[in-house]
Amino acid sequence: MTAPDTNPDAATATQDQISAEIREIHRSYEQRRAEGGPEETSARMHFPPYRSSLLRSPTKSLHHADPEEIELHAPAFGERDVHPLEADLTIQHGGEPIGERMVVTGRVIDGDGRPVRHQLVELWQANAAGRYVHKRDQHPAPLDPNFTGIGRTITNAQGEYSFTTIKPAPYPWKNHFNAWRPAHIHFSLFGTDFTQRLVTQMYFPGDPLFDLDPIYQSITDQKARDRLVATYDHSVSEHEWNTGYRWNIVLSGSNRTWFESDAAAEEEH
Ligand SMILES: [Fe+2]
Repeated sequence: MTAPDTNPDAATATQDQISAEIREIHRSYEQRRAEGGPEETSARMHFPPYRSSLLRSPTKSLHHADPEEIELHAPAFGERDVHPLEADLTIQHGGEPIGERMVVTGRVIDGDGRPVRHQLVELWQANAAGRYVHKRDQHPAPLDPNFTGIGRTITNAQGEYSFTTIKPAPYPWKNHFNAWRPAHIHFSLFGTDFTQRLVTQMYFPGDPLFDLDPIYQSITDQKARDRLVATYDHSVSEHEWNTGYRWNIVLSGSNRTWFESDAAAEEEH
């Protein structure tokens, strides 16, 4: 096999090539699991089907930095800093955004199921046409003047968060030829200071693009992938107003939600 083209904008590989690479990596993972190998609950930083991961993943072991100094100065967010209306992405402009209005809600919990209270949760996403308001997203889908795609909120005393937004669409990217990302919403958990920030993505159940997406598939374990998929919850849907999805975020333990590195998050995929 020839070495993959690492230019993230080259889009030289076909979907069949990417899918075959994903299958081979998953097959060897499953084989090692069957032989008693460890379960992988996080994404591989170096995952060749996700082309830009090759240039971005660390080649040396990380240096430990003492966060004590920055923690003395970093901000701590509280109820006063975030307006309740910032959790509704459908009312940020003069008119209604186009698309399926939905509520996504859930709990932020630690590995023992305890609520993570008063936690800053940020979200960003494409619009109902799959377009981001971002200079690097220039593909020919319409921007929506009534939708920016950014919101934030603070978890309540039970660790619960809730956003009202528009269901995002899949969008193309240049990992390979005819590459499409499954519909997803980016989430950031801020912690109490900058050094603790965690970033991840939430997906929608039954997306036909799951098998084809090298970012989703860079998590080799099916159970860990499943934890990124929200469930449709009819009790969250409201009569003639919105559909509802529920997604819990687990910060630690064996059911921990997968989180990206900050470098990966900056790429906006
Ligand atoms: Fe994205």
